[in-house]
Amino acid sequence: MVEIAIMGHGTVGSGVVEVLTRHETTITKRAKEEIRIKYILDLREFPDSPLADRFTKSFDDIIGDSSIQIVVEVMGGLHPAYDYVKCCLEAGKSVVTSNKELVAAKGAELLRIARDQNVNFLFEASVGGGIPIIRPMSQCLAANDVVEVAGILNGTTNFILTKMINEQMPFEDALALAQKLGYAERNPAADIEGQDACRKICILASLAYGKHVYPDQIHTEGITNISLADVQYADAWGGVVKLIGEANLLPSGKLHSIVCPMFIPRDSQLANVDDVFNGIMVRGDATGDVVFYGKGAGKLPTASAVVADVIDCVKHLKARKYLFWEDGSSDYVADYLDNEVAMYVRVQAADPDAVCRQAEQLFGSVTRLTRKGIGADETAFVTPVLKERDIREKLSHLEENGTKVLNTIRVSDF
Ligand code: HSE
Repeated sequence: MVEIAIMGHGTVGSGVVEVLTRHETTITKRAKEEIRIKYILDLREFPDSPLADRFTKSFDDIIGDSSIQIVVEVMGGLHPAYDYVKCCLEAGKSVVTSNKELVAAKGAELLRIARDQNVNFLFEASVGGGIPIIRPMSQCLAANDVVEVAGILNGTTNFILTKMINEQMPFEDALALAQKLGYAERNPAADIEGQDACRKICILASLAYGKHVYPDQIHTEGITNISLADVQYADAWGGVVKLIGEANLLPSGKLHSIVCPMFIPRDSQLANVDDVFNGIMVRGDATGDVVFYGKGAGKLPTASAVVADVIDCVKHLKARKYLFWEDGSSDYVADYLDNEVAMYVRVQAADPDAVCRQAEQLFGSVTRLTRKGIGADETAFVTPVLKERDIREKLSHLEENGTKVLNTIRVSDF
């Protein structure tokens, strides 16, 4: 029998208990050991829980109990999760977490401690909820060089954008619905301003290229500026707006990575990833594009990934799984303004035809877009592929002549 502790009894934590108890027999068969929950750490009271006798408010109970070999951290947030996880690993206990904030900020350090202590630090649930992505990337695709990893990494924003695209629902109503359905983070800013997706692309890029990428190194834009007008122009262009996190290693050895809304062509595999679903494309040099698709949020999908890691830990109590990346560095991530990209631009101007003529002169050529119910003082166009810095400079020339740039959205090449 292997005894475990679970730190946190919120949405994911209670899901972990549910999955472990509901599938006890099959899990025991797969792990080849009975898994018993000995402690559940939470500051709140759960008198009606069938496991009410296992609850504790004290981390000392867990760290001081040498029979606990595996600790599940599903508290979320950086503190005290980081301090507790570090302590557990240093004490020779394997740790499983769903906490993307923790892995994105401290992954390299915690993986190093795990290696030094010959224990495991696993975090399948930190990216893509129930979608297997960490293990496939570190094991099944290990023979490939990852050319690029890109995806829809946040279920809440994808749900909101899907409602805007398919039902013309205003942003605020779609956000309220996502919150009602329990998809959004406690603080929805982490979803709608892109930080949640940023943490996830940090984890994927660190794993893909073996060097830690920290969230503050990645230019991150959310979806709060996306209007129904942008969604309609994307449709006229032949695609949809999606919040994308992408990363690829440049020939210089630096990493290009960004989180932002993008125009995605309708025939892209990511264009039809809708609602709360996530889609992650890994472009391998041998495999070509491999796309992982599934529910990226929610209690049971996430709990399922956590429990799979617990089973893996039980099967590898004496043999460490290979999962590692080294510390990052301040000069590792390239300036996003040096990236070459095509840009959708929506403007307000008294004479839209004149603006498009100016844009043609500035950019060489542009693709002009229109939409149903277009205002007399608006237009939109897509620039050719240019260095983003040059695009911004040319747009500032347009603005000097009285044009107001209302929004810009990058156009994807996948
Ligand atoms: N709020 C997150 C999302 C939960 O919407 O994807 C899963 O990380």
